[in-house]
Amino acid sequence: MSQILTLRRPDDMHLHLRDGAMLAAVAPESARDFARAIIMPNLVPPVVTGVQAAAYRDRILAALPDGAAFEPLMTLYLTEGTDPADIAAAAASGLVKAVKLYPAGATTNSHGGVRDLAKVMPVLEKMAEIGLPLCTHGEVTTPEVDIFDREAVFIDTVLDPLRRRIPELRVVMEHITTKEGVAYAASGDNLAATITTHHLILNRNHILVGGIKPHYYCLPVAKREKHRLALRNAATSGDARYFLGTDSAPHIDALKEHACGCAGCFTATNTMPLLAHVFEEDGALDRLEAFTSLNGATFYGLPLSEARLTLEKTDTPVIFPEKILSGAGPVTVFDPGFAVHWRVRA
Ligand code: DOR
Ligand code: ZN
Repeated sequence: MSQILTLRRPDDMHLHLRDGAMLAAVAPESARDFARAIIMPNLVPPVVTGVQAAAYRDRILAALPDGAAFEPLMTLYLTEGTDPADIAAAAASGLVKAVKLYPAGATTNSHGGVRDLAKVMPVLEKMAEIGLPLCTHGEVTTPEVDIFDREAVFIDTVLDPLRRRIPELRVVMEHITTKEGVAYAASGDNLAATITTHHLILNRNHILVGGIKPHYYCLPVAKREKHRLALRNAATSGDARYFLGTDSAPHIDALKEHACGCAGCFTATNTMPLLAHVFEEDGALDRLEAFTSLNGATFYGLPLSEARLTLEKTDTPVIFPEKILSGAGPVTVFDPGFAVHWRVRA
């Protein structure tokens, strides 16, 4: 008799669905297991206005398989030209659930992001007033700062001063990767953090030892083992301030396996089995639902999903597809490097 685990259908509070042929290929992968997802706006060009977010939402819905029960929760990409009134209107209509801060140059398609936080203060003050969360890509881009220190330096030099200036601003520290991130997320009010599937599994040795593994390269880059263990403790604790945001970020293989490879791990296909493995390993299967289906919805003020997802443990290892084929090219599915004995029951 196989082990069964039934959860409220999970939410992915940080997801890249892209557009066009890639969207068509990856949207069904998330819709299969997830109820909702916070959709990242770093398209080319980025999703900056409420009108653009509404059009993107329509394209996502059109890419879903017939009968899919998957709700995209839209975000806007913060720029130094963002109009506080447009954000307020998009939030009031219910369309937009958060605004994303990309420090300019921090990651994929972030060149239109924010260089000078002072320029977006009126937007952030408006967001605090209306309770609209700010999702932060929490890395400084200063060339002098070592890439492995960028998150900790962001917390000290950007996030903490911002929160002291606007304590009412609701902030989600996206895809935290350090023990400093774990600690800061628990340090005050109006604060939460997403944690990805791959950062619960990878440390920096996995990327670099025995040859460079481009499919393990993402941003923020995976850190030392002690940081991965801090993330595992946080995710499996049940603490309401930590929740799943996969940051599943598809790039075609030709751009990952490249002299200047793109950042991103594509985990939409197998995230829930991988998380069941991780939580079982840490003796925390009873807290998986909090991480994937309760904490994020509660932070965003959403009703808990009423649908259910059932995971089952198998005797033989589960074989996940190695790649997803998109019209733009193949996308490699994240391979954790160990045998997984959990699958989602169809
Ligand atoms: O690894 C990443 N990929 N990190 C990000 O912040 C962006 C994402 C992407 O869009 O490819
Ligand atoms: Zn992301």
